[in-house]
Amino acid sequence: MSQNSETLFQGFSRLNREQRFQRLLELGALTADDILYLQNNGLQNIDLAEKLVENVIGYFQLPLGVATNFNIDGKDLVIPLAVEETSIIAALSKTARWIRQKGKISTSVEGEAIIGQIQIAEVRDFDRLAKVFYTHRAEWISKANQDVAANMVKRGGGVMDLSLRRLARPDKQQDMAVIHLTMNSCDAMGANLINQVLEFLKEPIEDLSGETVSMCILSNLNDRKLTSAEVIINEVDESLGKAIENASIFAETDPYRAATHNKGVMNGIDPVLIATGNDWRAVEAGIHAFACRDGQYRSITRWRYQNGQLTGQITAPIIVGTVGGVTALHPTAKMALRMMNIESANHLSRIIAAVGLVQNLGALKALCTEGIIQGHMKLHIDNLLMAAGAKHEETSRLKDKLQHSLKINKRISLSEATELLKNIREEAIS
Ligand code: MEV
Repeated sequence: MSQNSETLFQGFSRLNREQRFQRLLELGALTADDILYLQNNGLQNIDLAEKLVENVIGYFQLPLGVATNFNIDGKDLVIPLAVEETSIIAALSKTARWIRQKGKISTSVEGEAIIGQIQIAEVRDFDRLAKVFYTHRAEWISKANQDVAANMVKRGGGVMDLSLRRLARPDKQQDMAVIHLTMNSCDAMGANLINQVLEFLKEPIEDLSGETVSMCILSNLNDRKLTSAEVIINEVDESLGKAIENASIFAETDPYRAATHNKGVMNGIDPVLIATGNDWRAVEAGIHAFACRDGQYRSITRWRYQNGQLTGQITAPIIVGTVGGVTALHPTAKMALRMMNIESANHLSRIIAAVGLVQNLGALKALCTEGIIQGHMKLHIDNLLMAAGAKHEETSRLKDKLQHSLKINKRISLSEATELLKNIREEAIS
């Protein structure tokens, strides 16, 4: 990213699309070819869709925007987000500017394993299974690495370990056995490979133990590889700092609030996952399961205020890939990864954690001060103009009327926009 990104970020939201392209070019976030691709409306190639899913009839387009002002681990960057919800990108850019001016964002990843599971639903003889398991564990790992994960081993990854768990069934006297497999999938998300390894092991496990494997699948509750981000902001006004801490405590304590709080975090996380071609359902599932790890659903972020300093943390399983799958096939995903200069899957995961945390801070700040409606209103009015069916020549009058109504009544709705448009049209006839 260019040396003078600070200047290039300035006034970004007020630029038109062509000016934004120029700034992103100067920032080094986009190339001339990327701009041409975006000017030609991005991906059109229906053959790719046919390769990805079945019964294709077209593409579903989402807006792609960029959040500016981010400095993560000392590096400036522009974040691409594919999302339809008003205010997310504006709130992110605004909050990132606050942090940039008064604090910092740092990130880390701990652990390197993704997890797969082999279920033996009705174990006949657990002790015998355990004996066979511990006798053959090392041999199964090396066979899986040789026969299925050889390429991953060449890249420095592969199957790391197998462990055996015994779970009581709630419905029968019998136990259930679950074999956990851990694998380092390097820069791939690893879903296909780990599932192949699990299915490969089914046969030797059944042959040697006499048990019946009932299913094999990866686990999205990936607590063996956790990504963290931390935001520290200085010179925070005491009443604001305490209000954000109180909002955090609300979500740490009450699952009803935690769900909405975490939804706000996902407002930052999902759009980056989508823009980079990653499986956002997998990350959603993992994060929500992790948020529930002590038996109660809680917030996945935590904010505390002390002596003018506000500190926030997030720790969550954010398993993503930067090679293979959609990341390699979808040209927009490739461009999004390039925009952020992504070096590895862990690097992307760290950026995503930071974006989720910053998004959360933006939401909490708004909720504790002016409320969220204010920030939504400009684009909400534009949406209402469109939804009410205003023609180009009618929009400015209708907009004035809606703004006036908002000022007086503190709210506006589609039915009101439709009614006001009807009045404008009647006035034009009479
Ligand atoms: C809306 O999309 C997200 C928020 O509800 C998040 C929150 O309440 O923290 C504003």
